[in-house]
Amino acid sequence: MQHIKTMNKLAIIGGTGLSHLDTLEIIKREIVQTPYGEPSAPLVHGEIEGREVLFLPRHGYGHIIPPHKINYRANIWALKEAGADCVLSVAAVGGIRDDLGPQKLVVPDQLIDYTWSRINTYFEEGLSQVVHIDFSYPYDEALRQKIIQTCSDLKIDVATKATYAATQGPRLETSAEIDRLERDGCDIVGMTGMPEAALARELELSYACLAVVANAAAGRGSESLTMEMIESNLKVGMDNTRKVIAKLIRAVA
Ligand code: HPA
Repeated sequence: MQHIKTMNKLAIIGGTGLSHLDTLEIIKREIVQTPYGEPSAPLVHGEIEGREVLFLPRHGYGHIIPPHKINYRANIWALKEAGADCVLSVAAVGGIRDDLGPQKLVVPDQLIDYTWSRINTYFEEGLSQVVHIDFSYPYDEALRQKIIQTCSDLKIDVATKATYAATQGPRLETSAEIDRLERDGCDIVGMTGMPEAALARELELSYACLAVVANAAAGRGSESLTMEMIESNLKVGMDNTRKVIAKLIRAVA
């Protein structure tokens, strides 16, 4: 069968709560080596409704790689090498802003990077000149709008503007840290948004994030934060995310 070349090939990076896509018809799983080492897992090449999609679980199968140990460079490189031009990053987050409660979907438009000691660039060796990418607007606006439109077509409630705080982890934050993030203007908090977004920009990939609020951020909710609570809240949010992905693919391809 001859494949008609699509205009855009979408790659999905699945976060906590999204280690597989049941709507995805798997064509092959590929173990990839990159100049930066191995990605988090074999790359899944598949189709959703006849459109080509790549899928990579950020934390590996079985959710075994913590945020600060993820090989972000290998992940983004592998997707680019496999022909992706758009990347949808799905990420679990804590909600800082009052209206961003558990299960809510959020498409951030800004981020602040609080991570440290992660390798955060491809441009460090063998350069003929120093490279500084423009990162004023870290997410691709056209892709963001497609995600927002898809949510609205599906009547799924979505926050269309938010600043994502990328923290180092793997521990969750203190309530004073969340107060500080709020004073900085952050609305949601997660541990994997950076350097992933910047690396995608360095490789000229269109990159946007669909965040799912798993919990009220530290000191904001009445319950103490547990992995069980995070995972159960994520179930509903990720069910919506799967619906968004299935429809988004038509808008992108
Ligand atoms: N903080 C940081 N990362 C997270 C959180 C949180 O509260 N919830 C899910 N990922």
